[in-house]
Amino acid sequence: MSGVGAGPNARYRVEPVAQVGGELRVPGDKSISHRALMLGGISAGRTQVSGFLESADCLATMAALRALGVQIERGGTGVVTVTGAGPGGLRASPHPLDMGNAGTAMRLSMGLLCGQPFSSTLIGDASLMQRPMERVARPLRLMGARIDTREGRPPVVLHGGATLTGIDYAMPMASAQVKSAILLAGLQARGVTRVTEPAPTRDHTERMLRGFGAAVSRTGATVELAGGQRLQGATVRVPGDFSSAAFFIVAGCLGAPAGLTLRGVGVNPTRTGLLDMLRLMGADITVTAVADAGPEPMADITVRASPLRGVTMPPGLVPLAIDELPVLFIAAACARGETVVTGAEELRVKESDRLAVMAEGLGAVGIGCQLLPDGLRIQGGTVQGGRINSHGDHRIAMSFAIASVRARAAIEIDDVANVSTSFPGFPESARAVGLAVRNPDQTPTGG
Ligand code: S3P
Repeated sequence: MSGVGAGPNARYRVEPVAQVGGELRVPGDKSISHRALMLGGISAGRTQVSGFLESADCLATMAALRALGVQIERGGTGVVTVTGAGPGGLRASPHPLDMGNAGTAMRLSMGLLCGQPFSSTLIGDASLMQRPMERVARPLRLMGARIDTREGRPPVVLHGGATLTGIDYAMPMASAQVKSAILLAGLQARGVTRVTEPAPTRDHTERMLRGFGAAVSRTGATVELAGGQRLQGATVRVPGDFSSAAFFIVAGCLGAPAGLTLRGVGVNPTRTGLLDMLRLMGADITVTAVADAGPEPMADITVRASPLRGVTMPPGLVPLAIDELPVLFIAAACARGETVVTGAEELRVKESDRLAVMAEGLGAVGIGCQLLPDGLRIQGGTVQGGRINSHGDHRIAMSFAIASVRARAAIEIDDVANVSTSFPGFPESARAVGLAVRNPDQTPTGG
């Protein structure tokens, strides 16, 4: 992992800076990297992945698939070759599969493994062991899977030998992980599987399944696939992760008078609600499409500093910006007036309770903020210096690093080691565009 801030109790000290700018390429998309390994693992033939995110979360998925008998080779940076096990080709892991901090790895694996002839046990780190798994277990049981959880949480035990049958399932919450787990189980089920979403969620699984040769259709809010389809290995070009670019998009809005450009970022419309919200707040953002990107659209995104105003977030944008809400709250803290976000109760069950942890952190840097059951009401103001506990949540840690663009004094952020789960090299990338991120406990290397 990258030098600064990678230790177990690592922290950042972030000094205020006058401005940021320049250009940057962020690491590959986490959601797409997980899926490329999984679909490659169950396909016939080879899958070539470029732009793969070599972060702790995706490496957990890689280790799990290897333990299940999939051959995976790493080439140069971001290059991975998966030799698929083919239909019926996975074998039992000799040990529990440790998914680390990765909710996506665990939940999608439940769908992937619940119809196998062998049993599997899924575990994770302290944060993941507290996260809800019944949202996935329940529909999979309706399909015939036999699954145990510990009062709804991991360890998850998937009993082998279940016969799966397709279901028609209306999801009670907008979750791409639940949808994807059901679709992966549906591939192995008898008959047709249908999943209806209460609001659009990221559709990477559907796009990638088509790229691997499966027929997946959508009618309105319902996605449908027939069981028994065979996947054929494919080439996957992973775009830059919009969720990682988001930190610098907000940094640019707050402090890049001459512009800040993010190159080669994934701009799948199910992910870019943050851009719509920032534009409503008055942001100056230009999106230039990259030609021939493949099934996942890619663009260069340029942002220029402009005054932001507080707004009420349209409810439809919330699921399209779900992972970007922590950094959106930083933009709101620096905007004129009040920003209200509701309908975001899903944030309470992410890597941390992101509503509570962001409210605590915003208070610690002097921003008026009311914690609602399903959101936050934020009074834009002046960010002071202060000390933040990220509660081990990567996106909280990076969000407060961005607040330094407008802070009056240094911000110290505790418990940042998990930044490597999604954004290896974050401090170096941040410094490259002018942020002053250091780990005060280490001698800085390389600037
Ligand atoms: C993800 C879906 C989202 C998101 C997570 C990645 C995915 O979770 O928050 O970071 O890759 O499918 P939910 O499905 O719980 O909303």
